[in-house]
Amino acid sequence: MSAVIQAKPLQSTKTPQLPKSDPCLLTIFGASGDLTRRKLMPALFDLSCVGCMSPYFHVIGTGRTPMDDATFRKDMKEWVKKSRDARDFSDDRWDWFSERLHYLPGDINDPKLYEDIKKKLEGFRQADEPHNRLFYVSTPASLAEPIVDGLGAAGLNQHDKGWSHVILEKPFGHDLNSARELNSAVLKVFDEDAVYRIDHYLGKETVQNIVVFRFANSMFEPIWNRNYVDYVEITAAETVGVEQRAAFYEETGALRDMVANHLLQLLALTAMEPPIAFDATAVREQKVQVFKSIRPMTVEEVAKRTIRGQYGPGTVNGKQVPGYRQEPGVNPKSNTETFVALEFYVDNWRWAGVPFYVRSGKRLARNLTEIRVHFKRTPQALFARTPDEEIESNVLTLAIQPDEGISIAFGAKRPGEHMGTVPVNADFKYSVAFGTHTPVAYETLLLDAMRGDATLFTRGDEVEAEWRIITPIEEAWTQIPPPEFPNYAAGSEGPESARCLIGRDSHRWHALTNGTDPVK
Ligand code: BG6
Repeated sequence: MSAVIQAKPLQSTKTPQLPKSDPCLLTIFGASGDLTRRKLMPALFDLSCVGCMSPYFHVIGTGRTPMDDATFRKDMKEWVKKSRDARDFSDDRWDWFSERLHYLPGDINDPKLYEDIKKKLEGFRQADEPHNRLFYVSTPASLAEPIVDGLGAAGLNQHDKGWSHVILEKPFGHDLNSARELNSAVLKVFDEDAVYRIDHYLGKETVQNIVVFRFANSMFEPIWNRNYVDYVEITAAETVGVEQRAAFYEETGALRDMVANHLLQLLALTAMEPPIAFDATAVREQKVQVFKSIRPMTVEEVAKRTIRGQYGPGTVNGKQVPGYRQEPGVNPKSNTETFVALEFYVDNWRWAGVPFYVRSGKRLARNLTEIRVHFKRTPQALFARTPDEEIESNVLTLAIQPDEGISIAFGAKRPGEHMGTVPVNADFKYSVAFGTHTPVAYETLLLDAMRGDATLFTRGDEVEAEWRIITPIEEAWTQIPPPEFPNYAAGSEGPESARCLIGRDSHRWHALTNGTDPVK
């Protein structure tokens, strides 16, 4: 049995207006690709609808696909219209926006493309207006270096009429060495301050709320440490499979795709020390300190503290789905992991000895991203009727998606005569409390990049620090025979071994198949 208390905001929560972007000309490399259609265009359109764009805003899309402006605009319209991220689509609004969309076909290895971009950008220049340039590299990661080189060779990396920034999509390298090489290649052309490395999780409202929750409320800070926290559980579970991305995913796997960036970022925000300000330098400095405190694992530790899984056929949301090895484009003998669970230790004063369990997987029982902080039990089971009866410990849940919110589980007296306890939840849900549309991650990040605010982007040393944790695990996995794949059915909780990993210390994952009860 459990009761629920819904928290309400104490002040009016009318959505504040978003800030305005600087006057900015955006060039997207990979404009005919999936990310542009599904995420970037709906986000840009939405920003223009809520008045965030300057009248001097233009987008130049570039890609290998030959197309003229009209075809590009028509294609983008189809995608934006059906996107759930684009609020209030109307033809009038689209007309204003689409006049600002342009397309330049070209080969990123051909210097002519960059000269053409330059000419086009110059053509948009308004006398007396700042002329800021933003380059979005939304191509496969291997193309980032030639694009950045091309921009540098054409002198597009700097100019005297405004700023020039470059946005790089993840993955940023595939291991420590490649990340270092890419960093050094990029930094030959752009200053670190001009490089915006995207981890879209940082653009999610609920991820930013981790910082607000921790540092705007004095009651949690005194207990946010090894004296009170028993363990921390971080989950990113998805019901989708590999979708149409087999070629990418076969090379990447769950560890590189989700843990090396998104989940390590969630861990860092949960574990970091208070920054002296909420600005790019201070926040990123504290996150890097967390990454540096995570002990890299030896091969023996990797064997003990990491679990790999791969889904077999199964049922997801009532539908029969194939196993990973049967997905189009996947090697039928593939040993790529679609699930990973790990136990990390943050070796610093605050967190010494507290395990941070992290898991992520595709084709799991439900979509759920959350952080659960489990507090230590009270020293005495005063209210347990028998010695075997357990008092549940307090759990604080930061729900990132889909039901964004925060909840605290605590024990209350069970109604009736005896002094028994029952767990209850105090819940705060964004949708119930505010009922407003919050900007999607790409909107927030694009707007920040267009305003020159890098707080929610990852710094070069941060990315390298992430790979310093992940690369030894990837290397150890090449020395340890992989488990017998597939080892979990699509639509399940993931491999049984993941339960054993956390269960060694009588800890438990939050169940995916049932929203409330922990896996016993
Ligand atoms: C991407 C991964 O970075 O994040 C995908 O490449 C994953 O594999 C996606 O599906 C999850 O993002 P979100 O915002 O849906 O949680």
